Amino acid sequence: MPTQALFPTLVYSASVHSTDWSALNDKLRRECRQLRSDDAAGRRWSAKNYPGGYTSYGSASRMHRLSPTFAALERRLNRHVRSFARTLELDLEARPLEMTDCWVNIMPRNVAHSLHLHPLSTISGTYYVSTPRGSSGLKLEDPRLERFMASPPRNARSKQRPWVVVPAEAGKVILFESWLRHEVPPNPVAGERISISFNYSWF
Ligand code: NI
Repeated sequence: MPTQALFPTLVYSASVHSTDWSALNDKLRRECRQLRSDDAAGRRWSAKNYPGGYTSYGSASRMHRLSPTFAALERRLNRHVRSFARTLELDLEARPLEMTDCWVNIMPRNVAHSLHLHPLSTISGTYYVSTPRGSSGLKLEDPRLERFMASPPRNARSKQRPWVVVPAEAGKVILFESWLRHEVPPNPVAGERISISFNYSWF
């Protein structure tokens, strides 16, 4: 082939399932909902910044340090992050990638999370706790989008389309480099979509 693909954007998606996965996931779901009812500061923050939903991003953003259940999730995620970092060929110079932030997101029907990236971080991702049938996936934006200028539209079925939605599925984790812009489209179903997002840094 005379054409080669350069500068690929890598996204990792895998199951975190193991023998006691379902018990851990049930505990996480209970703790996410408990946190929402205990965290008045977070509910106030969410009312301004996450309308209709709840996130602990502005109030309890280091849940892996506060809860042994979240710490157990962190231990499971470490393996996936290391594997993704190897695929990215990151030279970490013996400095480990460590989880720096970890927070809860609860999205009832019609709640969305608009386009953003995760500053001051290396690898970011989300673990899915509850994904009722039909709930939104994670929409990733082509990082070259602002340079497309006069580019004609592309075949919407190809890998070269400017948006890709990765399905969100309970028990799965999605990882990406923290500079990759993403959003969660409005949750179209009645059931609450519950996820745990996190950042890993190497400095
Ligand atoms: Ni995000």
